[in-house]
Amino acid sequence: MKLNESRILITGGASGLGKTLAINLVDKALKVIVIDRNKELLAELSKDFPDIHCIEADLTNFDAVETVTDLIFKEYGKLNVLINNAGIIHSEPLVNILKRDDARHSLENWQKTIDINLNAVFYVTVNIAAKMVKTRSKGVIINISSISSYGNAGQSAYSATKAALNALTITWSKELGMFGIRCVAIAPGFFDTPSTHAALTELKIKEYKNNTPLGRMGKTEELLQSVIFIVENDFYNGTILNLDGGLKL
Ligand SMILES: NC(=O)c1ccc[n+]([C@@H]2O[C@H](COP(=O)([O-])OP(=O)(O)OC[C@H]3O[C@@H](n4cnc5c(N)ncnc54)[C@H](O)[C@@H]3O)[C@@H](O)[C@H]2O)c1
Repeated sequence: MKLNESRILITGGASGLGKTLAINLVDKALKVIVIDRNKELLAELSKDFPDIHCIEADLTNFDAVETVTDLIFKEYGKLNVLINNAGIIHSEPLVNILKRDDARHSLENWQKTIDINLNAVFYVTVNIAAKMVKTRSKGVIINISSISSYGNAGQSAYSATKAALNALTITWSKELGMFGIRCVAIAPGFFDTPSTHAALTELKIKEYKNNTPLGRMGKTEELLQSVIFIVENDFYNGTILNLDGGLKL
């Protein structure tokens, strides 16, 4: 798929990794569309990069996803690349003995993480993929997974959602290949983003860095390079691209 012929939708593109992708792809792609629930960050993105089509929506709301899908296809006719990036990084052990009143993993945090990191990805992909098939749009769905998908102590909910994304990636690649739609996941290790620093203690980050053969966290530009490779290589399909500096959890 040629980048300059691609209409690209990035979920959660108003900050962090998604924003890096959006602002770097806007001049290379035919169109970049960003959906995010954060109104302030979207307004800032739209002001700084008027060519990016910014749409405010909460992706955990199926009806809202249906509405924005219709809007996008009405405006652009086709969509070639969907990057399922919106998500939250949540760290909490299954049993926390330091919490004296109730040591159990919070049910609310479990459900919140599943809702955005898994349910919303299904809501977006089922709507977008159906329209891609209907409009004969060829392209690729890229799921932003995580190294935690292989099981990370202290991240039950998060690891579960990302493992599910890996399985969906393989499933969707098998189902959608006949329509000329590929599906690939990227499983980043630890990247130097505000969300990483918010979700993990500095001590934990130091430990991950020490355990990474390259001795550092990933840079957002390195994720961008992987996305460009996946979009442009039409035979790359049904696989998980690990982007973790060699770290093994
Ligand atoms: N930062 C890392 O080191 C790292 C590592 C591995 C995987 N990831 C994954 O990369 C993705 C992006 O992470 P990030 O670090 O850039 O996080 P981030 O918090 O900076 O960005 C996530 C964006 O998603 C949006 N979002 C969240 N819930 C939403 C909802 N319900 N509807 C619409 N938008 C919503 C947020 O507003 C935010 O702009 C996530 O899926 C995360 O799991 C990140």
